[in-house]
Amino acid sequence: MGKKVEMRVAPIGGPVLGLEASCDETAAALLAPDGTILAEAVRSQLAEHTPFGGVVPEIAARAHLAYLPALAAQVMAEAGVAPGALGGIAATAGPGLIGGLIVGSGFGKGMAIARGLPFVAVNHLEGHALTARLPLLREAGLVEGGVAFPYLLLLLSGGHCQCVAVEGVGRYRRLGSTLDDAVGEAFDKSAKLMGLPWPGGPALERLAAGGDPRRYPLPRPLFGRPGCDFSFSGLKTAVAQTIPKLAAERDRADLAASFQRVVAAVLADRARHALAMLPGATALVVAGGVAANQGVRAALTAEAARAGLPLVAPPVRLCTDNAVMIAWAGIERLRAGLTDPLDHAPRPRWPLEELAPAGDAA
Ligand code: KG4
Ligand code: ZN
Repeated sequence: MGKKVEMRVAPIGGPVLGLEASCDETAAALLAPDGTILAEAVRSQLAEHTPFGGVVPEIAARAHLAYLPALAAQVMAEAGVAPGALGGIAATAGPGLIGGLIVGSGFGKGMAIARGLPFVAVNHLEGHALTARLPLLREAGLVEGGVAFPYLLLLLSGGHCQCVAVEGVGRYRRLGSTLDDAVGEAFDKSAKLMGLPWPGGPALERLAAGGDPRRYPLPRPLFGRPGCDFSFSGLKTAVAQTIPKLAAERDRADLAASFQRVVAAVLADRARHALAMLPGATALVVAGGVAANQGVRAALTAEAARAGLPLVAPPVRLCTDNAVMIAWAGIERLRAGLTDPLDHAPRPRWPLEELAPAGDAA
């Protein structure tokens, strides 16, 4: 097993409320200090943004403001927990769209002030990174007791695409990242070229299900190269160049399947290189919306097995944006004695490497 990171465990006075409003999902969740999910709710803004073919920041901020207070009240009522019984508030404070970050973390700080509760300004990426440590027993895809440090995280979302060595709470080393598009962006852009509705990832996966994945030879950017950086813009260009050659609906499905196969192969290759860079890893963990893709999961499961490791892929609702991961990251930080001041400023850009390690807690 990997080396243990020693951490002081601070007591937490009650359930922790998690709040997420960094992009286009408004979410609230209530977790017991041991990580048990007491209640969770996500309100997608798909309907608000679909007419524009992407997330409109101003609309997102206003929607978060409209939905978040009711969602927070809903999870508290469902769990039967009064505000006075809370042990802390954890709210996403970055990275993300500044309007939503102000709404979410501002609301969280307001509750913390009103009730005299500890406040944690959670980095959204740390939320994705630590989800695999949720010690749940009955959730498929998670490991009983949570994954031990260190592990390799593949963060595969619409805005982020990176290989990260997760060595402790607040301790992250980026081993590689995308040189151009994020993998979710590649799915979304290619799907758009294929005439699919936004968001493209799930739609492309459905179309690919009926296609021949070997029909179109597409480039495999950076495949086999040293390191674990990614590149997807060339693949998107190849898709664009293939589109005019499509005749039947069947061809479109074949292109979608071919695209998905190449992306899965590239991700597996990058994971192989990243695992070689973290010899003590206890697991390969995937997070982010693209981790919902079954083709990607299958390729990564095979790659992890080659290295003699488990692939830990949280259930889909915990891979896409949610507040359970924010509450859990808050719990991990509170346990380590880490809280944030109530004048903490949200950060639209906030790389994982700039987080305070738990060992540095005062
Ligand atoms: O993590 P996420 O919910 O939001 C952030 O980007 O932070 O990821 C959303 C991304 C989108 O690009 C979406 O198209 C992609 O994840 N995605 C998928 C699938 N489900 C969501 N991509 C491929 N296959 C899927 N089933
Ligand atoms: Zn995310």
